[in-house]
Amino acid sequence: TIPNDTLFVLFGAEGDLSWRLVIPALFNLFLDGHLPQRFHLIAVDRADTDAAALAAHYLKGVTENSRKGAPQPEEWKGFAGSIRYIKADATKLEGFKILADTLDAQEAEWASKAERVFYLATPPSLFELIAIGLGAAGLAQDRERVRLVVEKPLGSDLESFREINTALCRIFEERQLFRIDHFLGKETVQNILAMRFANPIFEPIWNRRYVDHVTITAAETLGVEKRGGYYEHAGALRDMVQNHLIQLLCLVAMEPPVSYDADDIRNRKVDVLHALRQIAPDDVDRVASRGQYAEGWIHGDKLPPYRAEPGVDPHSNIETYAALKLYVDNWRWQDVPFYLRTGKRMASDVSEISIRFRDVPHHAFPASVGLNTQPVRLVIQLNPEQGIVLKFMAKEPGSPLRLRPVDMRFSYKEAFQVDSPAAYETLLWDVMLGDATLFMRADQVEAAWKLLMPILRVWAENPASDFPNYAAGSWGPESSDLLVACDGNSWLAPT
Ligand code: BG6
Repeated sequence: TIPNDTLFVLFGAEGDLSWRLVIPALFNLFLDGHLPQRFHLIAVDRADTDAAALAAHYLKGVTENSRKGAPQPEEWKGFAGSIRYIKADATKLEGFKILADTLDAQEAEWASKAERVFYLATPPSLFELIAIGLGAAGLAQDRERVRLVVEKPLGSDLESFREINTALCRIFEERQLFRIDHFLGKETVQNILAMRFANPIFEPIWNRRYVDHVTITAAETLGVEKRGGYYEHAGALRDMVQNHLIQLLCLVAMEPPVSYDADDIRNRKVDVLHALRQIAPDDVDRVASRGQYAEGWIHGDKLPPYRAEPGVDPHSNIETYAALKLYVDNWRWQDVPFYLRTGKRMASDVSEISIRFRDVPHHAFPASVGLNTQPVRLVIQLNPEQGIVLKFMAKEPGSPLRLRPVDMRFSYKEAFQVDSPAAYETLLWDVMLGDATLFMRADQVEAAWKLLMPILRVWAENPASDFPNYAAGSWGPESSDLLVACDGNSWLAPT
């Protein structure tokens, strides 16, 4: 499928997000023949620059950040030719009028109406202003062809999310709003639904009768890099849990959708969010753990503590690690704990979902054969490995009888022999096609904020007395181990 003629308007065109993710993704779509013949990238920013200078800047971004590496000069020329630049200030209406004229003129030249995508790669503080500018210039009206793409963070709590959302919904209809959670564009994340609902064997055991608990991990060795300014207002709970981790939980826990239609899927995900047990302020310490990294070693490098990172308050109370124990109160999942954890400067880069199955009801083998060395688990690997691993017990060859843990593996790389598209490639293509399946609907974002509000409040009102409480290069604070140990469980080493 190739999208219709498209005018892709990129606000914040000079910024890091455009340079690092959006442009490399668009360029790869171009290389793979997924962009329409008639495609223009209309870059908008406040900087004094022009299309040629911007193209040179983007070429560097693509070279450094694209999964396909440095472009061939001819290919780059083909893409760079579609770039136009408009200098505009989001606080003034003139810029939006120029933009409207530019888009109209291009459609007149093409003698056809195009899809118009407005992508806000700007600080969230500009979302409302840009939406107002687009509305005032008459650029939001075509409900079929016009789409607005916004990135997280959408608000910093329930109230601010509602404010931003109400402002956007005054100008755009919900079906025009594409809220990006880039985890949903990852191949391995999309495959969760394929695995669960395109195969008959998983669903019968996908419930409280067979599943003991679920663990979702997103660990990074990176620190906050140059993002201290942003991170000081976010923290791990807002940056990763509110969106990415909760979305993963929804995909694991949702009921089968009636169809692969955007709203059918999103309705089932919202059902999960509504079933999540609400957290009472008094329970926060029992169900949530927070950490902040101290100095430590990763891959032989000594790394500074969070509080010494650029842009970070030396007394910061912001968490760089968060772990949560959640319950989905419904027929399928009653009393099955879902443990979520994410952190910066962890021991390794690994994102995975581990479904730990219950033990056998009766142990026929004597304990001496080694039955209990490994619980049966299905591990959905998101990063750096991409695949699915079933970990179970098998008989060792020979006698006497001994059991040993083994793995049954599906690897994307081996099975398909092709590089998976980057999450942004998938998502941008979907925006151009108008398919909102992999985007967050307002009610999902709202429910996720609502769930986390008690934790955010308690953590803000009670600064952590033990920060920093985990060494860079470790697996997080002790309180996080206790969170699962009190149920007789452990995080288990990532695969
Ligand atoms: C972003 C967060 O949304 O996701 C970052 O803001 C985080 O802090 C990143 O590093 C992780 O994404 P990925 O795709 O690299 O796993």
